[in-house]
Amino acid sequence: MAVILHEEFKVERNDYSNAGKISSRVKDFLKQIGVNPKTLRRIAVACYEAEINLVIHSDGGMVYMDVMDDGSIQLTFEDVGPGIPDLEKALTPGFSTASNEARNLGFGAGMGLPNIKRVSDGFDITSSPEGTTLKLSFTDRNE
Ligand SMILES: Nc1ncnc2c1ncn2[C@@H]1O[C@H](COP(=O)(O)OP(=O)(O)O)[C@@H](O)[C@H]1O
Ligand SMILES: [Mg+2]
Repeated sequence: MAVILHEEFKVERNDYSNAGKISSRVKDFLKQIGVNPKTLRRIAVACYEAEINLVIHSDGGMVYMDVMDDGSIQLTFEDVGPGIPDLEKALTPGFSTASNEARNLGFGAGMGLPNIKRVSDGFDITSSPEGTTLKLSFTDRNE
């Protein structure tokens, strides 16, 4: 499978003022190339939640968007730590370690990872103290 469109975005730790911008840009790119509205919606939800997680929980990182020649879309979120000690716990609906600052801004419901998993066609997460990598894939289809 070959990559036909690649974009990358940087995420800064605690950069609340830009939180959500990457998912808007990803959505715009994919809209332009004709991705189905319902697929777009799933991707925007997943991208938003994963992007926010980098802002509020990580020391910063990168988001990569790849459109493949079979029409599938891959999103990769890579941060530089501190990692997730217990992935099973992190994936439990309602579990959150969000700071008071993040909670006061309306984040920290503990539904990000469960919702990302629900709307994605492919979900893979690995984590260590050196960082977390979340790989998502989406099949564009008429839903
Ligand atoms: N990139 C990340 N780096 C470190 N911890 C993370 C990351 N993403 C998620 N987590 C951990 O997983 C928990 C659950 O994430 P999520 O379901 O998105 O809920 P929320 O962001 O509302 O806390 C977070 O509270 C945090 O402890
Ligand atoms: Mg979250």
